Amino acid sequence: MRLPSKGMSKADVLAQLDAFSANDLPWREGNTFAYVYDPGREAEEVLKAALVRFMSENSLDPTVYPSLARMEAEVLAIAASHLGGDENVVGNFTSGGTESVLLSVKTARDYARAERGIANPELVLPVTAHACFHKACAYFDLKPVLVPVSGPSWRVDPAAMETAITPNTIMLVASAPQYAHGVVDPIAEIGAIAQRRNLLFHVDACVGGWMLPFFRKLGASVPAFDFSVPGVTQMSMDFHKFAYAAKGASIVLYRDKGLRQHQIFTGANWTGYSVINPTVLSTRGGGPLAACWAILHYLGEEGYLGFARNMLEATQKIVARLKTLHSIEVMGEPDFSLVAFSSEEFNVFPIPDLMKARGWFVQPQLGFMGSKPNIHLSIDQAKLAKVDRFLDDLEACVLQARQVPPPDVPAALLEQLKALRLEDLSPAVFQQILGAAGASNGLPAETAPINTLLNALKPEVAGALMSAYFNELGVQARE
Ligand SMILES: Cc1ncc(COP(=O)(O)O)c(C=O)c1O
Repeated sequence: MRLPSKGMSKADVLAQLDAFSANDLPWREGNTFAYVYDPGREAEEVLKAALVRFMSENSLDPTVYPSLARMEAEVLAIAASHLGGDENVVGNFTSGGTESVLLSVKTARDYARAERGIANPELVLPVTAHACFHKACAYFDLKPVLVPVSGPSWRVDPAAMETAITPNTIMLVASAPQYAHGVVDPIAEIGAIAQRRNLLFHVDACVGGWMLPFFRKLGASVPAFDFSVPGVTQMSMDFHKFAYAAKGASIVLYRDKGLRQHQIFTGANWTGYSVINPTVLSTRGGGPLAACWAILHYLGEEGYLGFARNMLEATQKIVARLKTLHSIEVMGEPDFSLVAFSSEEFNVFPIPDLMKARGWFVQPQLGFMGSKPNIHLSIDQAKLAKVDRFLDDLEACVLQARQVPPPDVPAALLEQLKALRLEDLSPAVFQQILGAAGASNGLPAETAPINTLLNALKPEVAGALMSAYFNELGVQARE
């Protein structure tokens, strides 16, 4: 494909974009239990207006955009006080949870290098910590030391965290809450270990940190998880999830400036303008920051409490109903509006396909180190209005999935795949697996066979397969 020789009209361009989105996941009707956090039409209009208003301004140089500097300072101050921080807490607005975590890990690495002379840093993290910590380790050359976590609580055992510490450990990681099962790790106990062992401690509050204090106000039992806990040195929290901001909105926070100093990159050794980058990105449009500031002020405490009430009620209804379903097990006791359910008796992977046929999106999660294959639900405030119909459909799909024979993946192939090692993943084997998943010619409509196959593979083999497949997809899109 080439750039059109002549420009199209505005109407044609917009019509084309609308046409592109015809097959996208429809989220507006509250049917999507992942990826999108719906604040309702009115709030969405506020987000859009703020986003567009500051689309062109650039946080690259906040000295010439005092508006952006002010909004960032205010958003950070609101977040710090919301998370039990004092006036010493500092941080930055970032593009998302992954960027916040990347920055925190890089900061910890550089701090440990400077203060402790550690050349081969290790990060101790539960298997329930988000994959972006592995990404940070891969990008910044740290060794991830994984701590197993088991049911029924799915909270990491602090003693197991301590056992994983070595002289090269630079930081402990825990989640409030973790994404997969929606539970909060024992932050106070891990904070005490971090203090005793003189280690940094990152609490990842990306997904639920903004809302947990509102849940607490409504009477939910939410343990201390933030800067009020001694030993917590840094945190990440996203606004673009359950704070309902536009995408591209998160923060990384540190207990003090001394630590944050190690985050900042400066570049004066080239021929151009002086670069001072606290974040990974350099040029940053002001839109997401303005939209974040706008939604915090538009909703205020009262608005967020109302949203929290909707989320709690919808979650309680969903958990209660799931617990009545034969052969279904809710994983853990969710502290937040994130719920995962699995089954000992049947393959749950057909459920997303069956639900899709009824207009719903629910998210499959592969099994990993004791966490069985499961279905995840992220429950935003818009779900309450539809929860009864959703539950009726879910119950019907669960019944159907119990009767559906496992997807058409030969048992012998599954056995063969379980034993497959990374070095066995030749192009021929790759094609054989794609064929069995029905994915030889692009993504198939049904996801169950793919997930059943991926779930059978060793995680490193599944990872290599997904990477090779994704690489091929890029080529197809260009043709
Ligand atoms: C606990 C947690 N941390 C980090 C992230 C990464 O956030 P993002 O997708 O904004 O990069 C997520 C995303 O779901 C998350 O749930």
